Amino acid sequence: MQLLLATRNKDKIKEIRQALADLPLTILTCDDFLDFPEIEETGATLEENATLKAKGIYEHSGFPSLSDDSGLEVDYLNGAPGVYSSRYAGPGCTYDDNNRKLLQELNGVPAEKRTAHFRTVIAIAWSVSEIDVVEGRVNGVIASEKTGSSGFGYDPVFYYPPAAKTFAQMTLDEKNGVSHRGRALKAARDKIMARLNKAAKL
Ligand code: IMP
Repeated sequence: MQLLLATRNKDKIKEIRQALADLPLTILTCDDFLDFPEIEETGATLEENATLKAKGIYEHSGFPSLSDDSGLEVDYLNGAPGVYSSRYAGPGCTYDDNNRKLLQELNGVPAEKRTAHFRTVIAIAWSVSEIDVVEGRVNGVIASEKTGSSGFGYDPVFYYPPAAKTFAQMTLDEKNGVSHRGRALKAARDKIMARLNKAAKL
């Protein structure tokens, strides 16, 4: 079976390859195609965006396609920044701009009301009508200031209570072991294995 990864992000490709390495599967990427389309993320939810991309790439290529979409959802902000996580502070903003805006929005909000989670949704389009959607999430609290220098995005303000550290204070292995993306990938792996087993029985 072949599975096409509907992303150009090299780090994601590496992580997904690693998670699926032992399955009897040929992983295809944008490098295998001369014309790999950009699918716009116009959905209102992570689910919609992941599905849009997986389906769009499937329709273009004819190969089963896997896509992911992630975001930070803060309870006090009714789930914002959510689907707008990468552009929370406006077009062309940096990770730092986003963190500054988030800390400002939560200024004066007590610790017990600063709960949040990262969520990753993975969609796998096996055909235009058969689409598996799974998710992974990790709960935390938005700190009152940035701490730590590893990772990316909201990691410096995402405090993870079981480790008593922010994600930006954890090693990559530590973070990947508990992260929303790691958990979503495990769930996606189960769906792919079920599909492989079904195909083997036919
Ligand atoms: P994407 O869908 O994986 O590209 O994620 C969208 C945005 O969510 C990123 O630009 C980050 O701002 C944020 N984000 C997603 N995953 C993480 C993470 O593991 N740490 C910090 N920020 C993240």
